[in-house]
Amino acid sequence: MTNWAKSGWRSKPRIQMPDYLDQDALNGVEAQLAAYPPLVFAGEVRSLKESLGQAARGEAFLLQGGDCAESFAEFSADSIRDTFKVMLQMAMVLTYGAKVPVVKVGRMAGQFAKPRSTPTETIDGVELPSFRGDIINGFDFTSKDRIPDPQRMLQAYTQAAASLNLVRAFSQGGYANVHQVHAWTLGFTQGEEAKRYREVANRISDTLDFMQAAGVTQDAAHTLQTVDFYTSHEGLLLEYEEALCRVDSTTGLPVAGSGHMLWIGDRTRQPDGAHVEFCRGVQNPIGLKCGPSMTSGHLKSLMNTLNPENEAGRLTLIARFGAGQVGENLPRLIRAVQEEGANVLWTCDPMHGNTIKSSTGYKTRPFDSVLREVHEFFAIHNAEGTIPGGVHFEMTGKDVTECTGGVRAVTDEDLSDRYHTACDPRLNASQSLELAFLVAEELSNRRNVKAQAATG
Ligand code: PEP
Ligand code: CO
Repeated sequence: MTNWAKSGWRSKPRIQMPDYLDQDALNGVEAQLAAYPPLVFAGEVRSLKESLGQAARGEAFLLQGGDCAESFAEFSADSIRDTFKVMLQMAMVLTYGAKVPVVKVGRMAGQFAKPRSTPTETIDGVELPSFRGDIINGFDFTSKDRIPDPQRMLQAYTQAAASLNLVRAFSQGGYANVHQVHAWTLGFTQGEEAKRYREVANRISDTLDFMQAAGVTQDAAHTLQTVDFYTSHEGLLLEYEEALCRVDSTTGLPVAGSGHMLWIGDRTRQPDGAHVEFCRGVQNPIGLKCGPSMTSGHLKSLMNTLNPENEAGRLTLIARFGAGQVGENLPRLIRAVQEEGANVLWTCDPMHGNTIKSSTGYKTRPFDSVLREVHEFFAIHNAEGTIPGGVHFEMTGKDVTECTGGVRAVTDEDLSDRYHTACDPRLNASQSLELAFLVAEELSNRRNVKAQAATG
């Protein structure tokens, strides 16, 4: 990469970033972080890129999910374990539907900084900076909390390191055993409401029994007991990203050491802005959120800037238009990709275009809208002959009441019971798993249509 330096973003227009008041304190934190070990390593970043390249070709499927915003207060081994566990369950169901490996990427171990719709918030005539995520300022509506504090970056780093350590242990230490994961899923399909999903779960049981009887599990013990699990977050707080950027000793190229994959948010994707400038120079896989305001021209320019070598697995386009709006927006962007002959992975984020205010005043997302956007995403790709390569969810393994609907229906009135998110409403464990069953149906219908076309 020519003409790139990890601090080059500093001379570009920046938005959605805090104004730190104490420059000395900020410099001190940046120097400290720059001396710490990176959280992820270049070889892992390369493996993820390879897997995402497979997903772009339809030889794998991406499952990306986790908190909207990780929080300092909700940090615990239990919440990491619960999210990890439900993602493995979802991955198993998706593998069954897609008949290809599922690439698992958490919004985890670094997903702290948030873009906001307004820079300040006013309550009872008092105006304070908006909450921008625990890595930047505090949630409580006091000036002490809301003033950006660079020390918070150190706490975020520590929490990310501990989260990643636990996830690595779960992935390799036997917790991810395929039989165990399936046993949890069977629990979900017990009730009368989940009848529809029981059949798929039973077929997975049969497959596992058959493999065991045929001795496959012994031969494949390692494969069936361990998983690859990667981390990702929005690359929003560039002081943090720059401080953790390292040069890979194998290739001599820069790698963001804060997480395996970074994405650029829908609000910070200006082709000449600071966020695109930082991301273009690091070797990690990059996600790019594409909302309704993304034009073909913007997309073409961003693809050229972010992936000039047209490398497979480098760029993931995360479509987030809202239910009912996919048909108006996605075909235009698919065409832009085709006109450029660009290698991209298409995934669907059915969360961020479907946020509404409930009758009880909570920010929520109806399960039906989430599902409808996923369905539209698949339908358009099927019609265009392109590849729907993954899904991106805000979810938690906990039994929260933040999104409405699902087989164990959450109503507007229920939202106040367990509304714990630090930012946007997340799918709970049961809604997440239900969605995985429905995406698996889309994937297996797609396979059947393709098979018929091949034989017909
Ligand atoms: C997010 O993923 O949490 C987010 C803010 O998304 P978007 O940039 O698509 O609005
Ligand atoms: Co969000």
